[in-house]
Amino acid sequence: MFMLKVGVLASGSGTNLQAIIDACNEGKINAEVAAVISDNRNAFALERAREHGIESFFSDASDKRRHEEEIDRIFGERDVGLIVGAGYMRILSPQFVKKWYGRIINIHPALLPSFKGTDGQGDALRYGVKITGCTTHFIDEETDHGPIILQAAVRVKDGDDRDSLAARILKVEHQILPRSIDLFEQGRLEIHGRKVRILPGDSWMEYALPDVLYSEGF
Ligand code: GAR
Repeated sequence: MFMLKVGVLASGSGTNLQAIIDACNEGKINAEVAAVISDNRNAFALERAREHGIESFFSDASDKRRHEEEIDRIFGERDVGLIVGAGYMRILSPQFVKKWYGRIINIHPALLPSFKGTDGQGDALRYGVKITGCTTHFIDEETDHGPIILQAAVRVKDGDDRDSLAARILKVEHQILPRSIDLFEQGRLEIHGRKVRILPGDSWMEYALPDVLYSEGF
């Protein structure tokens, strides 16, 4: 049976990577992680990959062109059909994005277009919003900008600090990111300009958490 090969880019602890691996292993998605690449030698994401027998690579990003050539080569050689940014903290060049457009997605810990950048959770908290959340989107040439696949809204609580809010959002990231891969694998994502149409089919609403609002298609 054909299985989608996923290439994961991760800079940090890799809990989103773990959620993808778990969803693959549980048969929730017809995919496998073919390789993990990190720009951070010490990323725990690389350790997680090794623990699961997944090929893992550190790629120095100080030379961006070489870094992206490496990503392109490693994923290309492994027939990767979808690249997933799972806590990858770098901005990819327009040339790289163009080559992979429609086959490269990202997770962001805020409701885009609000709170782009590297601290979506802290920025939301400091701004004083009452509701924030997370977004999956196709990556385009602009940062945190491409067509949106799924969003989920999370309530900000009175006593929240950055960590408690980030943890609550992260739980939901672990749902919408694998689901987005699932929708891609099922061929149910159609990009029309800025809009992603999700074709009808199954739902993951049985996994919905209370107090979270999921966009259509979850
Ligand atoms: C996640 O919250 C992810 O959304 C965020 O980094 C964290 C990585 O956690 N990504 C960004 O902020 C991208 N701008 P993880 O390493 O445990 O998956």
